[in-house]
Amino acid sequence: MMETALPNFHFHDLHPEPEDFHSDVIAGLRQTPRQLSPKFFYDERGSQLFDAITRLPEYYPTRTEIDLLQRHGEDMADMLGNDGLLFELGSGSDTKIRVLLDALQPQTYAPIDISREPLRLSAGTIAEDHPELEVHAICTDYSKPLALPGVVAAKRRSAFFPGSSIGNFDPGQACDLLRRIANIIGPEGRLLIGVDLKKAPSRLHAAYNDSEGVTAQFNLNLLARINRELDADFDLAAFRHEAFYNAQLGRIEMHLVATAPQRVRIDGCCFEFQAGESIHTENSYKFSVEEFQALAAQAGLASLRVWQDDDALFSVHCLQPI
Ligand code: AVJ
Repeated sequence: MMETALPNFHFHDLHPEPEDFHSDVIAGLRQTPRQLSPKFFYDERGSQLFDAITRLPEYYPTRTEIDLLQRHGEDMADMLGNDGLLFELGSGSDTKIRVLLDALQPQTYAPIDISREPLRLSAGTIAEDHPELEVHAICTDYSKPLALPGVVAAKRRSAFFPGSSIGNFDPGQACDLLRRIANIIGPEGRLLIGVDLKKAPSRLHAAYNDSEGVTAQFNLNLLARINRELDADFDLAAFRHEAFYNAQLGRIEMHLVATAPQRVRIDGCCFEFQAGESIHTENSYKFSVEEFQALAAQAGLASLRVWQDDDALFSVHCLQPI
């Protein structure tokens, strides 16, 4: 693909890494309990593994959300009511955005993602396939305050935040992020957001403990990425994937648990792990429709409409600043 030669493709690199990755990893591993941010899962290998997760029989969110978009895309586009600019936060699966772009036909598409090369590739392909669409890909960390390039600041705006990635944030952070999105889209803007729903813990458990072990590989790739990029020597065989539903907090938790005592070096820093010690790598909050609407309301976003599948596995909400 010749994305650099495409007149409708613009890449804005706001340089989220590698300094942030290095300092976040060191700081997170020094905390008690130890933790790493799930935003670092998505290097090239991690993005491929996530793609494989979305096709697993047990992992219902992606296919359920795509089905909702296909069935209700025209309704959703009517609700967004915007032929100007469509942001996408975390441009994960291009199947979803393609369905929405076809229904909405905005002038400009601005995907925002922390992972540079996966973003360049997916946004470039969309620009190639839609010569009439202006594509402004923005490589930045949307979990931090955003300073968007001027070219995308001026138009009528809406935003698409699929995949229930909002579930990666603790309620307070989720509220801040929704508030920042509300500011970006402005009073006339709309937000279309995918939210995974509470359901039988056994179903949730299966989705994060797939029988092929792809989720385990995805989780462990975080350590492999630290080895690759930060001159570290994690022994991947000495950590195991763990995922469980924490019913009290309404979230799936993913951890990497040391199976034996060990010492790890990361760029000259030394970390000692005891057997059984865990690194908390991800939270994935699940909501009832009402719980999510209450969170959105706290962030100054009113619910205009919500779509869900017949089995109430997943929901898509259209929100508007109050
Ligand atoms: C992309 C954050 C929505 O929480 O389900 C999938 C990531 N982690 N399997 C999720 C994920 C393990 C996913 N999100």
